[in-house]
Amino acid sequence: MVTKLKKLNICVFASGGGSNFNSLIAARRNNVFKSEIKLLITNNSNCGAVDIAKINKIAYFHISRKVFPRLTDDDYQKLFLDKLTEFGIDLILLAGYMKLIEPLVVRHFRNRIINIHPALLPLFGGKGMYGINVHKAVITSGARTSGLTIHLVNENYDKGRILLQKNVTVEDEDDENSLQQKILNLEHLYYSKVIRDIELGKIKLDE
Ligand code: GRF
Repeated sequence: MVTKLKKLNICVFASGGGSNFNSLIAARRNNVFKSEIKLLITNNSNCGAVDIAKINKIAYFHISRKVFPRLTDDDYQKLFLDKLTEFGIDLILLAGYMKLIEPLVVRHFRNRIINIHPALLPLFGGKGMYGINVHKAVITSGARTSGLTIHLVNENYDKGRILLQKNVTVEDEDDENSLQQKILNLEHLYYSKVIRDIELGKIKLDE
């Protein structure tokens, strides 16, 4: 039996190097999933993710308060919604996006925004827990296990429903850099698999 895949239009939000964005593009090219990556939204026009969008001819928009200082909060939030609507976006993937998602976007994309976090939430999540800080905190705590969490985004930072977690053993010789790399390698593998499982209906966003 051939399973009918649900094809979605994806927008990635990223602020940094963009290795997850890049791995999603590669996974799409290798038919790991069928949905289309239509758009990148970034708050940082100089980030690696923008270079990746350019190389792969993916539309990108730089939206930050610095660029639009005069807009009211409502109009600023509508900017995001306008772009997402223009590109027919059904699913937003956060991949190292360093800003909170605007409440209007969260409301319009309820259960349609996914984040990847480099630790086992609810541990090592919340304010200040981003980038290498997460892995430093894990090493300092003496935890023997860390990993990744892929979860829905709601109004509460790092608190949305968990879709997938994968464990990584923290070895004696690990420091924050080696742990970060080990987890990043798994992030690259599993983010795209989650999209595939959403398409296949194995992961349900609206439970
Ligand atoms: C990843 O570790 C991801 O879990 C976190 O931010 C980092 C982004 O890395 N949310 P990159 O920009 O995709 O390389």
